[in-house]
Amino acid sequence: MNFIKKPYLLAIDGPAGSGKGTVAKLLSKKLNLNYLDSGAIYRLIALSAMEKKVDLENDKNLVDLIRRVDINFIDDQTFLNNTNVSEKIRYEAVGKNASIIAKHLKLRKEILTFQRNFFQGDGLVAEGRDMTTVVFPNADLKIYLDASVNERAKRRHKQLMLLGKDVSIQNLIDDITARDKLDKERIHSPLSIADDAFVLNSDDLSIDQTVNKILKLI
Ligand code: C5P
Repeated sequence: MNFIKKPYLLAIDGPAGSGKGTVAKLLSKKLNLNYLDSGAIYRLIALSAMEKKVDLENDKNLVDLIRRVDINFIDDQTFLNNTNVSEKIRYEAVGKNASIIAKHLKLRKEILTFQRNFFQGDGLVAEGRDMTTVVFPNADLKIYLDASVNERAKRRHKQLMLLGKDVSIQNLIDDITARDKLDKERIHSPLSIADDAFVLNSDDLSIDQTVNKILKLI
């Protein structure tokens, strides 16, 4: 697409399960821009901390750990010290621990430049919790992609059923509510709606409809 000024920066934030990952990835392909899944960075650090048995409450040790690990994103695959961990970082326990370590300001500062460096060439589609507020406050377009807890639990349930895992919807609602609480109520870079962000609710929208709405805004 050549209707956008380049370099272009699109930042998308929203809660877990709002569909922002899928939407951001599709938009980056359509617009031919780089893609940053910032949640994957927190998941990689959490996974590494779990493997190395680093205390998730010890911000200094976590920063030391980050300085020693090698993180790479190659062709939609995620590598930690040259090992492909794309599946592992999606485990429920890793997501929960990612939310725990994400509260540390020192850790968030440590990965700021790493994240900002994804904005190069023709531009970037970045998604996460603080892309619109902290990491890319000057983004060309900011989207807050929301969805109700019930809808997000239903989507997750469908995904898990496809994997042959039957978890009760109520359990999923409880998990999502707990994650939202951690992400929205933490002191540093909580998930919040930037003043200049467009809020979209994806409850009644398909992925394609959401992508098209954002393309119209662009
Ligand atoms: O998006 P995802 O579920 O993969 O993110 C995992 C966790 O990482 C989130 O629950 C959140 O606590 C943290 N995170 C964050 N800031 C971001 C992206 C993710 O704090 N920009």
